[in-house]
Amino acid sequence: MHVLITGGAGFIGSHLAAHHLAQGDHVYVVDNLSTGSLSNIEPLRCNPQFRFVEADILHWGALDKAVAWADRIYHMAAVVGVKKVLEDPVAVMATNMNGTEKVLRAIHSGGWNPQVIIASTSEVYGFNAKSSFAETDDIVLPSAGRLRWTYAVTKLADEFLAFSYARKYGLHLAVVRLFNTIGPHQVGHYGMVVPRFVQHAVRNETLTIFGSGEQTRSFCDVRDTVVALDHLAGSPAAWGEVVNVGNEQEISIRGLAELTIQRAHSSSTLRFISYKEAYGEEFEDVTHRRPILDKLRTLTGFAPQWHLNDTLDDLIDRERTKQSCIA
Ligand SMILES: NC(=O)c1ccc[n+]([C@@H]2O[C@H](COP(=O)([O-])OP(=O)(O)OC[C@H]3O[C@@H](n4cnc5c(N)ncnc54)[C@H](O)[C@@H]3O)[C@@H](O)[C@H]2O)c1
Repeated sequence: MHVLITGGAGFIGSHLAAHHLAQGDHVYVVDNLSTGSLSNIEPLRCNPQFRFVEADILHWGALDKAVAWADRIYHMAAVVGVKKVLEDPVAVMATNMNGTEKVLRAIHSGGWNPQVIIASTSEVYGFNAKSSFAETDDIVLPSAGRLRWTYAVTKLADEFLAFSYARKYGLHLAVVRLFNTIGPHQVGHYGMVVPRFVQHAVRNETLTIFGSGEQTRSFCDVRDTVVALDHLAGSPAAWGEVVNVGNEQEISIRGLAELTIQRAHSSSTLRFISYKEAYGEEFEDVTHRRPILDKLRTLTGFAPQWHLNDTLDDLIDRERTKQSCIA
């Protein structure tokens, strides 16, 4: 199979690339390396079935050709991360909406009908006060002008773009609402909590919690995520559907910090700062983010293989190795 991955040098995209190469597929990655990095795909570059091009999907001249080459497309390229979203909402709007439209238009004009995954996010549920979310739940977004929600709004627009193209032109695409995903290659610079906690715990430094720490999240290992996406892309029953992808195990952020310290046998302590201190005035957090995965299970039989403890142990080991190399 020929697999095109936009944003394939990023965290999730690079795992998708590795997953497909391991199955003997040909993989073509396009990425502008804005948050992705060459180090994520370095081990893949010696594989003759892997190809990488550094380009911005908004201006990439070879997009049409690449799309026509592909049997499967994962559209993962996006501006991601709370910090980036608050710093540059204009870039978020451009990449996340125009980029998706360009990809969809290229697929339609290619005249070939590849299997497509469009990456959306659990953020689209907005501040719906429920504690767990099914795909049929209401989207609750604030009235105009609250830029913290730019990312969610762009991803929601992507969902509607995708379904418009699917309905009108019969594209074989599924939209995935990814909940918090964790694992190797994820970096903490853009506001991701787990890499930040792991790095500080391994160094026996203080772990900083934003807000009360009572907010809960559910973390899915990326190595489970890519299996789910692969199954969804290849399931005709999933085409035209939106599907939650994540892990139902839930933990408070304070609980996550304590667990990370415990798994790392660390002497770190906790400190709490307000969201205002962390991100500025505009940030509003949501209390719970737990997926209901019935639809994913029905479509794919998905059952996560990675428990949070195992992912943390793996990340702690990798961080220790990295720090010993630096020392
Ligand atoms: N990681 C999560 O927990 C999570 C949760 C929900 C949704 N998602 C979605 O999954 C996708 C992948 O996210 P990720 O966590 O791997 O983040 P990431 O930042 O590591 O990956 C995004 C990739 O897209 C690239 N990119 C950005 N703009 C581009 C452009 N204009 N042209 C080409 N490449 C561009 C970046 O360099 C990066 O490699 C995104 O669409 C994101 O919205 C991720």
